[in-house]
Amino acid sequence: MKIAGKHYRTIWPLGEEAVEVIDQTRLPHEFATLTLRTAEDCARAIKTMVVRGAPLIGATAAYGLALAMREDASDAALDAAHDALLATRPTAVNLRWALKRMRDRLRNHAREERAALAWAEAAAICDEDVAVCRAIGEHGLTILRAAAEQKNGKTLNILTHCNAGWLATVDWGTALAPIYLAHDAGIDLHVWVDETRPRNQGASLTAYELGGHGVKHTIIADNAGGHYMQAGKVDLCIVGTDRVTANGDVANKIGTYLKALAAKDNDVPFYVALPSSTIDWSLQSGRDIPIEERADDELLKMTGRLPGGGLATVEIAAPGSPGANPAFDVTPARLVTGFITERGVCAATEAGLRGLFPK
Ligand code: MRU
Repeated sequence: MKIAGKHYRTIWPLGEEAVEVIDQTRLPHEFATLTLRTAEDCARAIKTMVVRGAPLIGATAAYGLALAMREDASDAALDAAHDALLATRPTAVNLRWALKRMRDRLRNHAREERAALAWAEAAAICDEDVAVCRAIGEHGLTILRAAAEQKNGKTLNILTHCNAGWLATVDWGTALAPIYLAHDAGIDLHVWVDETRPRNQGASLTAYELGGHGVKHTIIADNAGGHYMQAGKVDLCIVGTDRVTANGDVANKIGTYLKALAAKDNDVPFYVALPSSTIDWSLQSGRDIPIEERADDELLKMTGRLPGGGLATVEIAAPGSPGANPAFDVTPARLVTGFITERGVCAATEAGLRGLFPK
C-alpha cells in the first residue's frame, strides 16, 4: 500500500544483512522505519509492538531466524533462535507457524547452506503473505459487492475492530483487503473504526491506513458499535484474527466478542478474514487458546500528540488503582457468519474449514 504516494510493505530486506520495518509505535503521529540486524532485534520489535498483527509477527520472526543463521547456523543456534522468537507473544499462531516452517526448511540442510536458504524462505513467507491477503481481498469483495447491491444506491456501512489492515500483514491486510478492493472498484462504502482500547490500534492504525487510501471512515468508541447496530447503521462487520481453532472459534483483539454478540442480536453479518496460517488445527476449541496479559500501563496511561507537535504520555486513571489488561478474547464460532480465506468463503465450522483446507 502507499504512504504519501510511495509503495511500502511493512517489512523489507536490506541486502542480506538486515531488515527494515515501519515503527508502528510511532504511528499515526510520525512515520519512521527501524533497522533490525539480529534475531534479538526482531524479538524486541515483536515484543514491544514495533511490529504487530498476526501475519506480520510471523514474517518478522522468520527474518529473525534468518538473521540468527548468519551468525551461527548450528542445530543448537537454530533451536535457540526458534525458541526465543516463539516466546515473544503467545496468542497469534502465525508466529509458531512461520518459525516451524523455517526450522523444517533448514533442519536437513548442511550448516553452510542454512543462512542463504533461511533468507530465501523468509522472503518467500513475505511474498506469499502478500498474495494470500490479496486473495482474501478478492473473496471478501464478492461479499461486499452483494451487500452493496442490497443498499439500492445508499452507502454500505462496515464495522471493523482493531487493525487488520496492511500494517498487520506484509501488505493488503486481512479484514481491510476486501474494503480496499471494494473502494477501488467504486463501491460506495464507509467504515466504522472501533478505537480499540487500550492500545488504540483502530484509532491510530486502521484510521491512518483508511485515510491514506481515501476510504471514508469514522472512529468510534469501542462501546458505540452496539448502538449503531441497533440504529441500523452497520450493514456488516469484518474483523481479523490471531488464531482460529479447528472448531471455528476465533481469538482476536479484546472486545471482538462483545461486537460479535451485538451483531448476532441485531442480525448484522459478522465475518472473520484470515489466512490459513492463522488456523491452529492442534486445538479443538477456543477455550485452549493462550490469552496474552499485557502490562496495565497500556490501560492506565495514554500517549498522544501535544499542540506543539511533541509526543507525551499521561496518566488517565485514579492514581494507585491497578488495571487488568487481557489483550485478546475468544468469539465462539456460533457467532461468526463466515470465514473469508485465501481459498474462498466458508462456514465457521470444522467442516467448513476442512472443505477449503483438507488435511
Ligand atoms: O496486539 P496486536 O496489535 O498484535 O493485535 C493483533 C491484531 O492486529 C488484531 O487482533 C487483528 O485483528 C488480527 S491480526 C490481522
